Amino acid sequence: MSNPAPPVAVVTGAAGGIGAAVSRCLLRDGHRLALVDRPGPALDRLAAEFRDAGHAVLAVGSDVSDPAAVARAAAEIDEEFGGFDKLVTCAGVGRIDPIEQTGDEVWTQTVAVNLTGTFWWCREAVPRMRARGGGTIVPVSSTTALVGLPGRAAYAASKAGVLGLARTLAVECAADGIRVVPICPGATRTDLVQQGYQRAADPAAAERAHAALQPIGRLSEPEEIAETIAFLCSSRAATITGATIIVDGGYTAGGPSWNT
Ligand SMILES: NC(=O)c1ccc[n+]([C@@H]2O[C@H](COP(=O)([O-])OP(=O)(O)OC[C@H]3O[C@@H](n4cnc5c(N)ncnc54)[C@H](O)[C@@H]3O)[C@@H](O)[C@H]2O)c1
Repeated sequence: MSNPAPPVAVVTGAAGGIGAAVSRCLLRDGHRLALVDRPGPALDRLAAEFRDAGHAVLAVGSDVSDPAAVARAAAEIDEEFGGFDKLVTCAGVGRIDPIEQTGDEVWTQTVAVNLTGTFWWCREAVPRMRARGGGTIVPVSSTTALVGLPGRAAYAASKAGVLGLARTLAVECAADGIRVVPICPGATRTDLVQQGYQRAADPAAAERAHAALQPIGRLSEPEEIAETIAFLCSSRAATITGATIIVDGGYTAGGPSWNT
């Protein structure tokens, strides 16, 4: 009997910190991969590295906030791989601004990338996965969807929306064998947070202060978030769906203590 074809996974935001780490894990776990990110050298370099290592990858330069581009990207993936079985939506943007300095453009763009882009990709994924007898979607949300932090109005709202979308799809698609498992990373050492430190008067002190806020005393590494996502994408997580998976070094488990 011939071996079944390896599963196909789509990772959006694949060229960034968590997305690139997830891509490495999914390749290690035997997937063929479509890497989706904004067109540019980071995406090209990663795809070349994976191809040189003998992996089956397709690089798709595509903006998740453009519905026509999402439809074109999904069609390109169909052409290359004949559909897909897994979707991990890592593409995301975020900045810290007080509410009165959060301009219309920042709000609209943040929601368009983080929430609406996730919706568009899920809408492409569900019928394809249904046709293949099932699949897994891991939308990347954030602990900012769970606890209030000053200055994150647009980001937190978009990430909370991702949780609502994911829970809905989990129950809507469960009978089709499609699992939808949102993950909330806490502070993770990627460009997204390191760019924030660079805006501080003392970036090294800002990084130390951020680490000290985490109960484990440090940020997560992108690879640590990626391993959880890879597990959720595997058959070992066969009955996990609709649950919010938090990987945050204990950040949301408590608050500051007054007696130590
Ligand atoms: N780093 C953290 O502390 C942290 C915490 C919680 C959640 N997250 C979430 O994890 C995900 C990955 O973030 P990261 O920390 O790896 O950040 P990152 O900035 O390193 O990576 C984000 C990637 O998304 C891509 N992207 C942005 N806009 C896009 C668009 N319109 N179309 C296609 N691609 C686009 C970027 O090019 C980049 O490669 C994001 O959704 C982020 O909100 C990160």
